[in-house]
Amino acid sequence: MCRLFLLLFALFSAIPPSFSRHHGPYALRISCGARDDVHIPPKNTKWHKDIAYTGGINTNATLPSSISPALTTLRYFPLSEGPENCYSISKVPKGHYFVRVFFGLVKEPSFDSEPLFDVSIEGTLIYSLPSGWSNHDDEQTFVEALLYLPDYSASLCFHSTGHGDPAVLAIEILQVDNKAYNYGPQFGRVTMLRTGKRLSCGAQKPKFDADINGDRWGGNRFWNSFSSFGQHSDRAISTNSSIKQASNAPNSFPEALYQTAIVSTNQSDLSYTMDVDPGRNYSIWLHFAEIDPSIKSSGQRIFNIEINGNILFKDVDIVNMTGDIHSALVLNTTVAVVGRSLRIILRPTKGSHAIISGIEIFEVILAESKTMLEEVRALQALKSAMGLPRRLGWNGDPCVPQLHPWSGADCQFDEESSKWVIDGLGLDNQGLRGSLPHDMSRLQHLQNINLSGNSIHGTIPSSLGAVTSLEVLDLSYNFLNGSIPESLGQLTSLRRLNLNGNSLHGKVPAALGGRLLHRASFNFTDNAGLCGIPGLPKCGTHLSIGGKIGIGLGACAALMLLLICSTCWWKRRQNILRTQRIAAREAPYAKARTQSLRDVQMIRNQSLGHTRTASENGPPLLS
Ligand SMILES: *[C@@H]1O[C@H](CO)[C@@H](O)[C@H](O)[C@H]1NC(C)=O
Ligand SMILES: *[C@@H]1O[C@H](CO)[C@@H](O)[C@H](O)[C@H]1NC(C)=O
Ligand SMILES: *[C@@H]1O[C@H](CO)[C@@H](O)[C@H](O)[C@H]1NC(C)=O
Ligand SMILES: *[C@@H]1O[C@H](CO)[C@@H](O)[C@H](O)[C@H]1NC(C)=O
Ligand SMILES: *[C@@H]1O[C@H](CO)[C@@H](O)[C@H](O)[C@H]1NC(C)=O
Ligand SMILES: *[C@@H]1O[C@H](CO)[C@@H](O)[C@H](O)[C@H]1NC(C)=O
Ligand SMILES: *[C@@H]1O[C@H](CO)[C@@H](O)[C@H](O)[C@H]1NC(C)=O
Ligand SMILES: *[C@@H]1O[C@H](CO)[C@@H](O)[C@H](O)[C@H]1NC(C)=O
Ligand SMILES: *[C@@H]1O[C@H](CO)[C@@H](O)[C@H](O)[C@H]1NC(C)=O
Repeated sequence: MCRLFLLLFALFSAIPPSFSRHHGPYALRISCGARDDVHIPPKNTKWHKDIAYTGGINTNATLPSSISPALTTLRYFPLSEGPENCYSISKVPKGHYFVRVFFGLVKEPSFDSEPLFDVSIEGTLIYSLPSGWSNHDDEQTFVEALLYLPDYSASLCFHSTGHGDPAVLAIEILQVDNKAYNYGPQFGRVTMLRTGKRLSCGAQKPKFDADINGDRWGGNRFWNSFSSFGQHSDRAISTNSSIKQASNAPNSFPEALYQTAIVSTNQSDLSYTMDVDPGRNYSIWLHFAEIDPSIKSSGQRIFNIEINGNILFKDVDIVNMTGDIHSALVLNTTVAVVGRSLRIILRPTKGSHAIISGIEIFEVILAESKTMLEEVRALQALKSAMGLPRRLGWNGDPCVPQLHPWSGADCQFDEESSKWVIDGLGLDNQGLRGSLPHDMSRLQHLQNINLSGNSIHGTIPSSLGAVTSLEVLDLSYNFLNGSIPESLGQLTSLRRLNLNGNSLHGKVPAALGGRLLHRASFNFTDNAGLCGIPGLPKCGTHLSIGGKIGIGLGACAALMLLLICSTCWWKRRQNILRTQRIAAREAPYAKARTQSLRDVQMIRNQSLGHTRTASENGPPLLS
């Protein structure tokens, strides 16, 4: 059990599990690889040490960008510890969260390469670090997703892709309002939003919510600065006036976002294009406030909003829609993108100009179903009982992300439970040294097990007989001892059973012997003395006490039967002979009748003989 939690990181929080607007949002910040808690600006934010976490290697970090928190350590995961490495954080209250991971670079001359790896949260793949990420001083140096955490825990995994060792600088888990960024019917448990872009138009420099006095319920979003749409046909404007309707629940957008904007000149369009992955849905949030002093009333500025050629918002008139100048307007829409780019155009009408304060673009990601908890626990028990080598990893969820399943575990989606289940274990020749745990039977969907060619010792757990779907069981070439559990006879689907090359002895369950007739292929050779089914020696010498008693009782019964029968037969015979003698004296036709009488006698004798043989083989019937 100790080993089981070796790679898990658990933090006990002093904050009570109920979170209301009263208490403020739950917030957990981890400085990866730090041996002590770290306090850094702004506002002396506390970053937890992660000393309790024992996976990976902690070392000094170089910050890839100026927006990364000013932390000096990171944790990296060499491939020898397995391709999957996770932080599993417990006691996180149910709710919606912004989860953010900052990446770092190992501060060592020999580590000059930029690692490229995949990041998953709660089993859902959310990001693949693009080549060149460390040369961008922007949001490429972290990944952020908005998601629902239903089970008091958060699991973040880093998956090696063969390009360097994953390295993590910091992790943030920040609670937001349960309705934050509610983009429509699909919002909630089944989807996550991964932040693609978040721009503050007209801002001088990039900022986090915290830098601009944003509400703590906003999730400390990062707003990159954006000064122009290009083409020399726009300009940045700003105001010091306060903005109405800005930091309202559920999104709590910072007021400062609306105090800057970009307006078009020469009555031209404002056009923004972003490269995206094709075939995905994107949730787009656009922010406006009329801060241009030349606009005083409704009707003076009207524009259409076009996304990838479709007019999604027609005749947008900010003053009309908010009822005032200096008042925030948020529009959101979700678009399915077919191609590789997402193009947003603000097209002014009636001789006016376009204006915009902020743009947010999220990729909508369908949350993966996880693996059935019972089976995950069973695999974890297996991992520690069998001494799984570290290089195999086995951290996080066994089946998801689908791109990175645990090696050696075959997964299948179970429609009934809408969860993943394990239908195969292929760990042949993996240098396993432990024993087979009893609760392997919790893997109720297993069809194939191949543990051939390891150094597994101990006995075959009889609970394996409860895995009724098992078709192939290969435990050959290990050091298994003891006898084959009788329960394996219950595996009616079993068609291959390789137990050769072990130290098993004793009687092979009779039910298995029966199965051989049905084209099953079993191999029991090279063991310490298996017996009892066709092709193996007869059992006898190595009988259990119960068996011996059985045989004894059987033999006694047979002897007594024999005695009774012979007495009967002898008496009958005497009778017959007497009758014959009388008949021979009396009438010749009686001969035929006595002949048939003797035949009946013979048959009776035979059936008695048969009973005797069966009871001599007593043990299988009695035991
Ligand atoms: C990290 O840097 C500190 C000094 O800043 C140094 O003492 C320490 O040895 C470094 N650690 C590693 C693993 O290089
Ligand atoms: C976002 O748009 C959806 C669908 O158009 C709408 O139902 C939802 O209320 C909007 N959310 C906000 C916060 O405006
Ligand atoms: C728009 O007008 C500005 C001057 O106000 C000028 O410098 C710029 O070239 C014009 N742009 C276009 C596309 O006409
Ligand atoms: C806002 O206030 C700052 C100083 O408080 C001043 O420097 C700046 O010019 C003001 N901006 C506007 C648009 O009034
Ligand atoms: C995009 O959204 C539509 C409708 O909401 C849905 O049917 C479709 O599966 C989504 N596509 C992806 C890739 O999520
Ligand atoms: C918005 O426009 C409509 C029709 O153009 C008008 O009736 C209404 O009074 C306007 N609202 C405001 C707040 O200006
Ligand atoms: C199990 O693995 C061994 C070694 O890789 C292989 O030879 C054997 O055929 C496998 N057993 C089954 C039943 O596929
Ligand atoms: C099986 O082997 C183990 C050592 O690996 C030994 O402790 C145990 O007694 C053996 N059991 C039987 C039934 O031979
Ligand atoms: C059974 O295993 C032995 C080695 O232990 C091998 O020589 C033999 O070919 C196997 N028999 C079958 C039918 O696979």
